[in-house]
Amino acid sequence: MDKFVIQGGKPISGTVRISGAKNASLALMPATILAPGTFTLLNTPTLRDITTMARLLESMGVKSSHANHAMTIDSSQLSRFEAPYEHVKRMRASIYVLGPLLGRYGKAKVSMPGGCAWGPRPVNLHIEGMKKLGAEVELKGGYIVASAKRLKGARILFDVSSVGATGNVLMAAVLAKGITTIENAAIEPEITALAEFLQSMGARIQGIGTSKLEIDGADTLHPRNVTTIPDRIEAGTFLVAGAMAAKHGAKIRLDQCNPDHLSAVIAKLEDAGAELSCGSGFIEIKAPVEINAVDVSTAIYPGFPTDMQAQWIALMSLAKGTSVVTDNIYHDRFMHVPELNRLGADVTVRDNTATVVGGKKLTGAKVMSTDLRASASLILAGLAAEGTSEVLRVYHLDRGYESIEKKLHQLGADIERVKGEEF
Ligand code: UD1
Repeated sequence: MDKFVIQGGKPISGTVRISGAKNASLALMPATILAPGTFTLLNTPTLRDITTMARLLESMGVKSSHANHAMTIDSSQLSRFEAPYEHVKRMRASIYVLGPLLGRYGKAKVSMPGGCAWGPRPVNLHIEGMKKLGAEVELKGGYIVASAKRLKGARILFDVSSVGATGNVLMAAVLAKGITTIENAAIEPEITALAEFLQSMGARIQGIGTSKLEIDGADTLHPRNVTTIPDRIEAGTFLVAGAMAAKHGAKIRLDQCNPDHLSAVIAKLEDAGAELSCGSGFIEIKAPVEINAVDVSTAIYPGFPTDMQAQWIALMSLAKGTSVVTDNIYHDRFMHVPELNRLGADVTVRDNTATVVGGKKLTGAKVMSTDLRASASLILAGLAAEGTSEVLRVYHLDRGYESIEKKLHQLGADIERVKGEEF
């Protein structure tokens, strides 16, 4: 397992290129199951989760290659309909093969994802959605076993807005017979990107970008090429890095990003005192002289993303004053807090709310990554801390941040990956 060694306190500035969105790619890749043939997915990031999805598809007979951010997928030889535990345990998003397998082939066996580092993450909405579309679904030996002759359009109203359930049911419904409506559908940009890709393949979908999708099932779909949208969470993380570790007034520019996807994060950074300017495909942040304490509450899109909550707590630990950070999506997602406190932050958690007493001096320490975004917050705090920090178990970061140490290095940070030992 690799670790990062960071010499903190180095000011950063310059330009960084934002990669394609992990969470969009993880939906686009399984969508290729829906139409046998060859697809090219441009701007696909080089990440562990992407490799995991490619391997899962390969285990079903779907071939792929990935070079220079172009992923070519040939789904014409798909011959197995199973997502085994060994893949799903590595990555929950493996469940995204359920909808397309059922829609295209009428059968799927997908290991139930377990909980994750910060608590239970149910998949009941995915299963209920498939049942509504007429699938017979059984839970056997830790697997979701589903079958249907041909799915039938239905009205589906989600109790909770779920990115994964919306994507999965959408992929199932595009080949169902008749009309499906999905109400309280997720409107995250990754779902919009998926819906537009499906539409380009011949799917008939109305209401894209809204919380009510209407799908008129097609008999067949066709392979198409697509360019993956930029990763808004990677972009948000670099913006927070800019606010924390840039010397007062220094600038960081993000290229190849979409500012429209980051409105809530941008607004909160402005409240915190940073100056931001945005244009087509770029965002520039000028670090504040003093960081204001700003409360955030996570919400579904376009609200403040839960995937930015840990990074925000890291930022607020440097703020002047006390702030309150509430996670309304994942109530237990605070594994980073004890580790941030080891770096000198003063954060207490009660229920789903963290109280961050800012203005504490961060000092280098050894800390442990527990999940993807928690790890990002530890890197940010390490960059701002005085002295040497070691962030252990960085494989979490490799799941979702492409070359993070290289990108930070380019900006002037002193961060080094130490490979291969058991830390
Ligand atoms: C996706 C993202 C993840 C992000 C999350 C919330 C991917 C691969 N992952 O995860 O990075 O943190 O959205 O923005 O895109 N829920 C249920 N039943 C279900 C499904 C979800 O109750 O069947 C609940 C969850 O517990 C959670 C809420 O719905 O409270 C939202 O979760 P969801 O949007 O489904 O998250 P994911 O799609 O797993």
